[in-house]
Amino acid sequence: MDGERLVLVVGGTGMLRFAVHELLDAGATVLVAGRHPERAAPGNPSAIGRLVPVQADWSEPVQLAAAVARAAGQQSVGTAVLWVHRPYGAGVHRALDGVLAPDATVVHLWGSAGADPTASRPAPPEYRPPRHYRSVVLGYVDRPDGGTRWLTDREISYGALRALADPAPRQTVGRTEPWSRHP
Ligand SMILES: NC(=O)c1ccc[n+]([C@@H]2O[C@H](COP(=O)([O-])OP(=O)(O)OC[C@H]3O[C@@H](n4cnc5c(N)ncnc54)[C@H](OP(=O)(O)O)[C@@H]3O)[C@@H](O)[C@H]2O)c1
Repeated sequence: MDGERLVLVVGGTGMLRFAVHELLDAGATVLVAGRHPERAAPGNPSAIGRLVPVQADWSEPVQLAAAVARAAGQQSVGTAVLWVHRPYGAGVHRALDGVLAPDATVVHLWGSAGADPTASRPAPPEYRPPRHYRSVVLGYVDRPDGGTRWLTDREISYGALRALADPAPRQTVGRTEPWSRHP
């Protein structure tokens, strides 16, 4: 990964914390936007300076985007990993439109309320080309005993990181089919 890379992670203090740490370890500078961004602090002390906490709330998307822009300064935000609960997604995506680079790579995580949560909600129009958009649906995995379970934070984080490298526009972590087998 390019050491100069500036990555925005929304939701980076929760299940995407591992992804934030991996990005820092790979040399990226990571803007973590959330109400308690300091919670994303890495164990690796040499990476602390490249973690940029951005105090922000999904419910105030214009302020969130302004805070991200301030934190980025003159640097272009060329990569974003986004986890936003409903109903805040649309507002956050709209507000980030003016902040992300015109050709930014955007990994957008979708919780699974069915086999295809993207079917009932269109992909955010802000991320059309020339942006590189990847929707990542979070599914479930099989357990050795024949049952199923939800994904762990680590599995979700690695799915998000994989999507940064994989240009497929629709990706799934675990599986969503058949939906009737979900935990
Ligand atoms: N298919 C699956 O298996 C699946 C799918 C989804 C989730 N999960 C699991 O469910 C657990 C809980 O998920 P979760 O959705 O609560 O996500 P989470 O990522 O564990 O935690 C919530 C994240 O959202 C941020 N956040 C919450 N409210 C916010 C607000 N108003 N403004 C800005 N940021 C806000 C939090 O940051 P701040 O507190 O810093 O604001 C935090 O980073 C996770 O552990 C995950 O593993 C599993």
